[in-house]
Amino acid sequence: YFSKNTDDILKDRHIVITAGPTRETIDPVRFFTNRSSGKMGYALAEHAIKSGAKVTLISGPVHLKEPEEAHYVPVETADEMFDEVMKVYQQADVVIKTAAVADYRPKIVYDQKMKKQDGDLSIEMERTKDILKELGARKEHQLLIGFAAETNDVETYARKKLESKNLDMIVANNVKENGAGFGTDTNIVTIYKRSGEKTALPLLTKDEVAEKVLKEIASLL
Ligand code: CTP
Ligand code: CA
Repeated sequence: YFSKNTDDILKDRHIVITAGPTRETIDPVRFFTNRSSGKMGYALAEHAIKSGAKVTLISGPVHLKEPEEAHYVPVETADEMFDEVMKVYQQADVVIKTAAVADYRPKIVYDQKMKKQDGDLSIEMERTKDILKELGARKEHQLLIGFAAETNDVETYARKKLESKNLDMIVANNVKENGAGFGTDTNIVTIYKRSGEKTALPLLTKDEVAEKVLKEIASLL
């Protein structure tokens, strides 16, 4: 189902994929996270493996079966994901960041369970590292692919991220559109490339989106 060409180009390439949400600890029993299911990243990993690529899948906690032939690296926090991505960055030909990385984490992590008290509670949060931005700043031979889930002004935000994170391509979707949300098996994405090229795809399964995205990546290699 892949053109011979895409398979030929991706064969033996090292593709690093990050997927799923991150978890940011509050105390031993609680954490902050988001609605990412990991499906898009896992679909990309499966397809890349079928094309003969060597895949490292760095994944936050999800309810999906790990692809058999991937080098599978489970992580929890944004910080752990950062460390694991950096370990393999030099040897990577392509990095695809589908992960929904937490932008903030609790400033204080309690090592005992927080007890409830009368009145309201505020938790002070601090920024996590922007992994993709750091990758962009240190980019050498690698192709960098970002994902952007937006609710409004999709094109403006997607192009800004493409620029500010020094990406080669960004895959954007409007999570408010029917069939493009979190946890669904389908997605409606638009692909923006560094060259300015824009490709709007129709409603597709995440498998089909993965196939198209890898084809676009192959065209840049
Ligand atoms: N990303 C990352 N590290 C972060 C935050 C985001 O690597 N700490 C990556 C995501 O994996 C994704 C891309 O950056 O590929 C865009 O993520 P997104 O959340 O859409 O963008 P942000 O830059 O975090 O901006 P905002 O959430 O404010 O829209
Ligand atoms: Ca974000």
